[in-house]
Amino acid sequence: MIPEEDVNRRIAEMGKKISEDYAGSSVHLICVLKGSIFFTCELAKRITVPVTLDFMSCSSYGSGTKSSGVVKIVKDLDEPLEGRNVIVVEDIIDSGRTLSYLLEILGARNPKSLALCTLLDKPERRVKDVKVDYVGFEIEDKFVVGYGLDYAQRYRNLPYVGVVEL
Ligand code: IMP
Ligand code: MG
Repeated sequence: MIPEEDVNRRIAEMGKKISEDYAGSSVHLICVLKGSIFFTCELAKRITVPVTLDFMSCSSYGSGTKSSGVVKIVKDLDEPLEGRNVIVVEDIIDSGRTLSYLLEILGARNPKSLALCTLLDKPERRVKDVKVDYVGFEIEDKFVVGYGLDYAQRYRNLPYVGVVEL
C-alpha cells in the first residue's frame, strides 16, 4: 500500500514539522508498544529538538483483526510526565478506543502539553472521537501490516506498509 521510500519521506516531514512546532523546547515521545516501535525510532531520528523516550504497552486486540473493545495497560511508563511536552506516538488509529483511553490516563499525569502522532489513520473506522495532531497517511479500511504493524504478531519487520488479503 505504501512503499518504503514514501513512508520514510513522510516520517522525515513529520519530524521536521514537530521540530518546528517545538522549536526552543523539547519533546518526550511515548512509544506505544509494540506496533509503534519502528515509527518511533524513525521519527525520533528526524526530530532536531531534544528528545526523550518512554514506552508503554496496551492491548486492545487479540491475535486476529477484530477489536475486542477492551483496552488494558500491559506495561506502564517508567517516568512521570509532569511538566513535559508529551507526544504519544501510535502506529495506527482505527476505532480510536486505545488512544482515547490513553489520553485520559496520560492527561491526568499533568504533562505541560499532550499531543498525538500516528503513522496511519483509518478515519472511516472511528468509534471514539480523538483529536490527532500529526498524521502520516490517511488510509482506507483495509487491514495493513509492516512498519511495526502485525497480523498475529508477524510481519512487523516489513520495511513498507502492505495489505493483508483475508
Ligand atoms: P484502536 O483502538 O481500534 O484505534 O486500535 C488501535 C490498535 O489496533 C493499533 O495500535 C494496532 O495495534 C491495531 N490495529 C488496528 N488496525 C490495524 C491494522 O490494519 N493492522 C494491524 N493492526 C491494527
Ligand atoms: Mg498497536
